[in-house]
Amino acid sequence: MSIQRTLSIIKPDGVKKNVIGKIVAMFEAQGLSPIAMRMTHLSRAEAEGFYAVHNKRPFFGELVEFMTSGPVVLMVLEGEGAIDRNRAIMGATDPAQADDGTIRKLFAESKGTNTVHGSDAPETAAAEIAYFFRGLELSPRSGAPITANPS
Ligand code: CMP
Repeated sequence: MSIQRTLSIIKPDGVKKNVIGKIVAMFEAQGLSPIAMRMTHLSRAEAEGFYAVHNKRPFFGELVEFMTSGPVVLMVLEGEGAIDRNRAIMGATDPAQADDGTIRKLFAESKGTNTVHGSDAPETAAAEIAYFFRGLELSPRSGAPITANPS
């Protein structure tokens, strides 16, 4: 496995529940280091652009509504196999299916209100990181070069 970078979002429900610190601590304890971090309130256009791949899905409107309902924390996480590792730490999309000890099992309410987002593959990680961060906003921790994804 190699050092990877992945985009993580703490969604409006996670921010409202005051669990930003707990979530970041779970990433750090399991080998993922934040190398960029920003809190923002997404505009409708930003959320629609980010989730454009889902724009034909029946839940798209609900997803955009939710993601613009309050502030989010955008992060780039770096570490060994960061993409799959982040997904394991998050747990299944539906919290009812998520393993014990995962972020979604601990904090999420439903498939829609599910506390965190994580990129699902190297190509999407590179695109999602570049959507929110310029290269110079990344502060590599592993010695890997400043690119959206070194893998
Ligand atoms: P995320 O990883 O951010 O990427 C797409 C999101 O769509 C997903 O998390 C869920 O929050 C959301 N989603 C997927 N399925 C449903 C659904 N059936 N109803 C509402 N939201 C959904």
